[in-house]
Amino acid sequence: MSAELMISARGVRKSFGEVEAVRGIDVSVQRGEAFGFLGPNGAGKSSTMRMISAVSPVSAGELRILGLDPATDGPEIRARIGVCPQEDTLDTELNVRENLYVYGRYFGLPRREVRARVDELLEFAQLTEKATTVVDHLSGGMKRRLTIARSLINRPEILILDEPTTGLDPQARHVIWDRLFRLKQQGVTLILTTHYMDEAEQLTDRLVVMDKGRIAAEGSPLGLIEQFSTREVAELRFGVGQHEALAEQVRDLAKRVEVLPDRLLMYSDDGESVVAGVHERGLTPLVTLVRRATLEDVFLRLTGRTLVD
Ligand SMILES: Nc1ncnc2c1ncn2[C@@H]1O[C@H](COP(=O)(O)OP(=O)(O)O)[C@@H](O)[C@H]1O
Ligand SMILES: [Mg+2]
Repeated sequence: MSAELMISARGVRKSFGEVEAVRGIDVSVQRGEAFGFLGPNGAGKSSTMRMISAVSPVSAGELRILGLDPATDGPEIRARIGVCPQEDTLDTELNVRENLYVYGRYFGLPRREVRARVDELLEFAQLTEKATTVVDHLSGGMKRRLTIARSLINRPEILILDEPTTGLDPQARHVIWDRLFRLKQQGVTLILTTHYMDEAEQLTDRLVVMDKGRIAAEGSPLGLIEQFSTREVAELRFGVGQHEALAEQVRDLAKRVEVLPDRLLMYSDDGESVVAGVHERGLTPLVTLVRRATLEDVFLRLTGRTLVD
């Protein structure tokens, strides 16, 4: 079976007056993939998602969604995709079931069909017991699950999620990750943005690292870590204000050293031996941690900045 292109972007740009939010991105997403855009606030993720959702026209470049041109085929595209925007746009005065029902009717589905899908989606989103609760009274995690359920009412081929778990507590995030993983297993193509490196690692098969409107790198989570980082990182915390000077004393012990305000990151394939080397030089960090490299390290390497500041 040949791969089927769900999204194809070539030199896509988005400007708002003088502001260039997206500065020429190239992306291809295949059917069944979970594809991520990882980047900090202001990277241009939401602007990109709105173009891919066929609600915001491209300023330049070529964009195809399901092989269709959003400039001319917006309604057909929107009928075949699901969109979960960064900010919840639920009707806060309606209850959970009503939100899903109204949205289903908006898609022109027959009443019986909508009712059946609503029941199914309530179950999927673990909201059956909250069916008659007014949205205003739901927790943040429940609202997100409801927004995801709503975006599934038209059985979309592509589900677009803009920061699906931002602002949620760890437990609520895990419930959403589990639901998204199920959708992926059902063959839904997922496109999501996040500034959480763990979310990108958990959910995506492939991702782009986005910064200042551009794509800095593309690959699988593991592939990017292999390409742009060492296997391990030793994090050393010394007294406030000492890190810059200490970095010079230990720089040769690692393949690369990053200085953050509160710690040194020493990149090497063997973190413990780096720590031993630091101690041999008579230096005693207040806190030492050896960990595996993550996408956060990839981002730091590519941009010199951290994902969440
Ligand atoms: N409607 C808009 N009008 C003007 N500037 C915008 C608008 N939307 C986004 N921007 C700007 O575009 C840049 C990228 O924003 P956005 O796409 O929301 O990034 P992200 O979702 O990665 O945080 C930011 O500088 C933002 O201020
Ligand atoms: Mg955004």
